[in-house]
Amino acid sequence: MSSRKPVTLHRLREMHATGEKIAVLTCYDAAFARVLDEAGVDVLLVGDSLGMVLQGRPSTLPVSLDTMAYHTECVARGNRTAWVIADMPFGSYQESAELAMRHAVRLMQSGAHMVKLEGGGWTAPIVRVLVDRGVPVCAHLGFTPQSVYALGGYRVQGRDEGASRVLKQHAAELAGAGAALLVLEMVPAALARDLTNTLPIPVIGIGAGAGCGGQVLVLHDMLGLTGSEPLRFVRDFLDGSSSIEAAVRKFVTDVRAGRFPDDAIHSF
Ligand code: KIV
Repeated sequence: MSSRKPVTLHRLREMHATGEKIAVLTCYDAAFARVLDEAGVDVLLVGDSLGMVLQGRPSTLPVSLDTMAYHTECVARGNRTAWVIADMPFGSYQESAELAMRHAVRLMQSGAHMVKLEGGGWTAPIVRVLVDRGVPVCAHLGFTPQSVYALGGYRVQGRDEGASRVLKQHAAELAGAGAALLVLEMVPAALARDLTNTLPIPVIGIGAGAGCGGQVLVLHDMLGLTGSEPLRFVRDFLDGSSSIEAAVRKFVTDVRAGRFPDDAIHSF
């Protein structure tokens, strides 16, 4: 059993300050939580991607709060030291800050250490309410899967100057509202690097290039279980590894060493 101390928000901030890369994977159950924690993954994200990965749905939109609470409980039981983030599902925070708070409480009481919500601009006041009431928040900008239909599919965000300016403004507002982490999904590597270097909080990238302060992948994607042509920013770490645990350890060491992602292959 590893002797790692529990990963805290303080530790994540320290990693940000010292430039140590943060390794994040999605996780949906106790068995994988045990393996990922032992392999040194810093953060387990109970992502609403489970709607697609585990439930075979076409998007994350139908995932319910009950489902998120159930999987968060499972992950919390298997985990010992990693920081656990639970996604707030579609419809659980859009209506009002009060409702968002009630739903965040449910996820925190299920074992999450932090909740994640998608979008910028309108989400900042909601983030402020949650943070003021003791709920750590991770923001999520760029391609936000709960808006897949509004965004017209899986598209890189922030490509032109106007979109890049808006994204930077939203990121600054979210950090100002108290968000302690930011996930940036499918944005040009140069924009992500710029945000990583200027924001006061750690930026965790997925399809956002090597310049981010950490990397996240969907667990089943990095184990080659995509069931379709993998997205450009995904690498199959099980390919060439002797076990799932070895694949996860390779992900952690490659992220820490800046070997994953490779901007020439995985970035936009
Ligand atoms: O739900 C999820 O898995 C996520 C990642 C894509 C960051 O939000």
